[in-house]
This record gives sequence, structure tokens and C-alpha cells, in this order.
Amino acid sequence: MHKITIAIDGYSSTGKSTVAKQLADWLEYVYVDTGAMYRAVTLFAMQNDMIIEEKVNTSKLIAALPAIQLEFKKNTSNGKAEIFLNGKNVEKDIRHLHVSEYVSPVATISEVRRKLVEQQKKMGEGKGVVMDGRDIGTVVFPNAELKIFMTASAEQRAQRRYNELLERGDDVMYQDVLENVQERDHIDTTRKDSPLRKAKDAIEIDNSEMNMEDQFHTILQLAKDRIAGRV
Ligand code: DC
Repeated sequence: MHKITIAIDGYSSTGKSTVAKQLADWLEYVYVDTGAMYRAVTLFAMQNDMIIEEKVNTSKLIAALPAIQLEFKKNTSNGKAEIFLNGKNVEKDIRHLHVSEYVSPVATISEVRRKLVEQQKKMGEGKGVVMDGRDIGTVVFPNAELKIFMTASAEQRAQRRYNELLERGDDVMYQDVLENVQERDHIDTTRKDSPLRKAKDAIEIDNSEMNMEDQFHTILQLAKDRIAGRV
């Protein structure tokens, strides 16, 4: 069957990855979580003393970029693609609030973006891919057949992320999670290189009041229409 490229962009914690994974499973497409790639680079910087007194040592990180190797591998026990940083599975480590605090500044570095965008383009070469992030419809795949832009209020998103972190057993406060969401929105939308923007031809979905099931079916229908060439 005719395969397409699906780009899902939007603010943090809008449920992009949940819906992207569901879509990829249903369509038997490859799912790529590009946020995980920026998070893994951030973890690398943290582990190699490139973040000191809350500041990212940009030149040190840029010099070390060739030594960063990222790969997604399927976990056979749950069928999910997990991220490996230089051969080590870091899927869990990259989700900590600590990584979230530094990932947006790291994602402003053009050299980091260039490296990751190049890898993302290669992963989508054969189509049949659902990729989520901030610049997928604008920079990585400007010709994607389906582009979705997801939004929800900052409070709703912080509540969702807070619940996820609590479920994982992390000791966090709602206010800190909300501040992190707001701070990341600000950095992601105002950075010079590839700021978070809705592509002109993207379909905006505000899921503040939408349940996950309805949202999935809405997006799946949009995908089916494009695969069938109805749009
Ligand atoms: O989707 P996420 O919350 O895991 O993303 C983490 C950060 O990475 C986010 O604050 C911005 C950055 N990011 C980006 O700049 N471009 C992407 N394509 C994906 C994520």
C-alpha cells in the first residue's frame, strides 16, 4: 500500500508521542521520537560535565558531537523502540525532570540540531514513518503528506506530566513541573534555529478537552484519507 510521512509537532506534554505510537502501530509504520534524541544529547552533556552551574558548555558539547552515537532499538518485551546512547539503553534516564530542565537550551544549539535533523531525515527516507517533535513539519519533512500540530493549555499539560512522573515514582511538585513546561514553551518558540511553529499546511488539534481515543481516531482518519489519496 502507498506509504506516507506523518509529522506530529506541538508543545511539550501534549500527548504527541502517545498518539504517534498508536498511529505507527496501527499503520505498521516506524515511529521516531525526536525529543528522545535531544534528551539523549542532553544526558550525554550532563554525564560529561558539560553542564556546570546550570549553564551548558556549548563549545565543549559541539566538539564532542562526533562522539555521540544515537540509535533506536526495539525492546522485545514490550515492542517499543527505545533509545541507545553510545550503546547504552537510556530510555528511562532521559525522562527525568533534571534532563527536562536542560533539554531546551541544548536544543537551541544549531550544530546539535543539524546532526539530529540529518539522522532524522535518513530515518524517514523510505516513508512509512510517524515522527514527532517540534520542527518535523517545518524543517525535517516539509513535504510530509500529513502534518499535525498539537496544543493544550500549559496547566493541562503540566498535570499530565506530573501524573506520569508520580506514577514512575519520581518525587516532584506540580508547581515545578508547570514552571518547566512554561519555560520550555518559551525557549522552544523563541529560539533562533527552527523555533516551534505550526507549519502553514498543518492541522491544529487542541486536545485540552479531547479524550485520547477520540484524538487517535480523528488523526487516523486524516492519515487514511491521505494514504488513499482522497486529500
Ligand atoms: O518532546 P520532548 O518533550 O521529549 O522534547 C524535549 C525537548 O527537545 C523539547 O523541549 C524541545 C526539544 N525538541 C526540539 O527542539 N526539536 C524536536 N524535533 C524535538 C524536541
